[in-house]
Amino acid sequence: MNTTEQQHFNERAAGYETEIGTEYPQALKWRLIEKYSGAGQTIVDIGGANGRHAVDLARHGRKVTCVDLSPGMLEQMRLRDEFLSLQEEQRPTPVVSKAQCLPIASNSADMAYCFATLLLMPDQEEAISELVRIVKPGGFIILDIARPWNVSWFYWDRHYKKLGFPGIFPLSSARTKKLFLNLNCSMLEKIATGLLSQLLYLPFIENGTNLRSWIHKKGQSPDIDGKMTAILPGFANRDYIVLQKGLLP
Ligand SMILES: C[S@@+](CC[C@H](N)C(=O)[O-])C[C@H]1O[C@@H](n2cnc3c(N)ncnc32)[C@H](O)[C@@H]1O
Repeated sequence: MNTTEQQHFNERAAGYETEIGTEYPQALKWRLIEKYSGAGQTIVDIGGANGRHAVDLARHGRKVTCVDLSPGMLEQMRLRDEFLSLQEEQRPTPVVSKAQCLPIASNSADMAYCFATLLLMPDQEEAISELVRIVKPGGFIILDIARPWNVSWFYWDRHYKKLGFPGIFPLSSARTKKLFLNLNCSMLEKIATGLLSQLLYLPFIENGTNLRSWIHKKGQSPDIDGKMTAILPGFANRDYIVLQKGLLP
């Protein structure tokens, strides 16, 4: 495997964020993975990068596998002080793999999650099917899904195409609803964010105003952006979704 994506993330690995983050969408990711997992459970982080979430989850007693297509990202995880401070058997297990074809047994994990990664895949439905496949019946799958009616994608699509990626691939609600039904999953939570944060991509807004600090006030959950997006979810940037895999095949 030696793709443009792999090379790009290998090059970014040394500088990639290790903190989970305090802005509402970042804090929300942590709240969800903590809520839907318990100590001693088997968890798989897909697109886990440098263990940004996986290492903290392991510190909270979960048995975590961190999957990423970038060996450079996983190497950064192995070098982190927080990783090295864990007993060997508590450390997340790094696995180099594409999300679309996971080398993980079916029905083996209590929970699997994938953040900020699916939107890069034209074939993300295959990756979502893989996440569902590896989770035990009754287990949880947590995803963030990019939604199409948001102007931020003009910026990100151009950004990633310039880097040689195929682009950005938001999915409509109707499409994911059908997919989740076909995968025998029920949706337990859907939290929309990013209605107001898309304005930051308009000229002069990010640098010329204090919009960011107003819509993402520290400690607010949901913040103003989250509250407004709940009113108009059709224009969300992301939906954070919790699925439960059906008990019957
Ligand atoms: C933007 S980072 C997100 C990291 C982390 N999940 C977070 O929320 O901060 C995307 C990560 O996904 C990985 N990635 C991209 N495409 C992937 C794929 N098809 N399969 C597995 N990992 C992938 C990249 O190497 C990178 O580490």
